[in-house]
This record gives sequence, C-alpha cells and structure tokens, in this order.
Amino acid sequence: MKVAIGCDHGGIELKRQIVRQLEHDQVQVLDLGCDASESVDYPLFARAVCATVLNGEADFGILLCGTGIGMSMVANRFKGIRAALCHELFTARMSREHNDANVLCLGARVVGPGLALEMVKTWLSTGFGGGRHLRRIEMF
Ligand code: RB5
Repeated sequence: MKVAIGCDHGGIELKRQIVRQLEHDQVQVLDLGCDASESVDYPLFARAVCATVLNGEADFGILLCGTGIGMSMVANRFKGIRAALCHELFTARMSREHNDANVLCLGARVVGPGLALEMVKTWLSTGFGGGRHLRRIEMF
C-alpha cells in the first residue's frame, strides 16, 4: 500500500509522527511536504496529495493542517476525491466503510498524536462495504 501525505505548518509535527508509524508498519509513504515550520499555504499541499491519489501513484492520501478544515475543503473540490475530516475513531472507520474515503484529513491542533495515530491505523485497515454505499458514492 502506498500513502501520500501532506501538511501545512500547523500539521508538520503530526506528519512526522504519522510517517514514522507508517514506515514502521511497512507502508510506502510519499511525503509531499511541507518540510519546514514556516507558514505555507495549505491548498498547495492538498492539491499535490489529491493529484497523486487521482493519478494512481498513491492508494490513499492523508492531509494535516491545524484544524483539518482547510485541507478537507480543498481536497473535496477534486472530482474522485472523497476526503473525510475526522476527529475520532468511529468516523474514521465509517468514512472508509460507508464512504470509501480516499483522503483522511486531521486537525493537528484538534486531536492529540496518540488518537491521530490510532485513527490512521483504523482508517487504513478498514475496507469499503460496497453495495448500497457504492450506489451512493456513485451519485456524486
Ligand atoms: C494555519 O494557521 C491554519 O489556518 C491551517 O493550518 C488550517 O487550520 C486551515 O484550515
């Protein structure tokens, strides 16, 4: 499995921790920045991660900013991207099972690293339920 990950300055520390966990779990990671703590514009990184998912270079994307809101707003502008902004485990799991989310957005100033890492694990290990859920996602 290959995961593209991107963040702005608000999510950089959490990105480092997630990359460390994914690599430890033998997940291939495409880290698309940012790489320094200077203020940057989150749409650039959302766009890069979404493009990578849409062109098939990555199976999933993870986007981090202070709240996760800006990243999710940008990501959901791209047809074919189903980005889920999650703050707890239930919606992280359901966003895969019912919505076939292909991008997970997290707010690094909202959730602590322990919860965020659990959410990433849950999200990546949950399959899409298909059936009526497929019909619904095909409607948008
Ligand atoms: C940056 O200060 C902050 O606005 C950004 O990380 C994010 O929360 C936007 O939605």
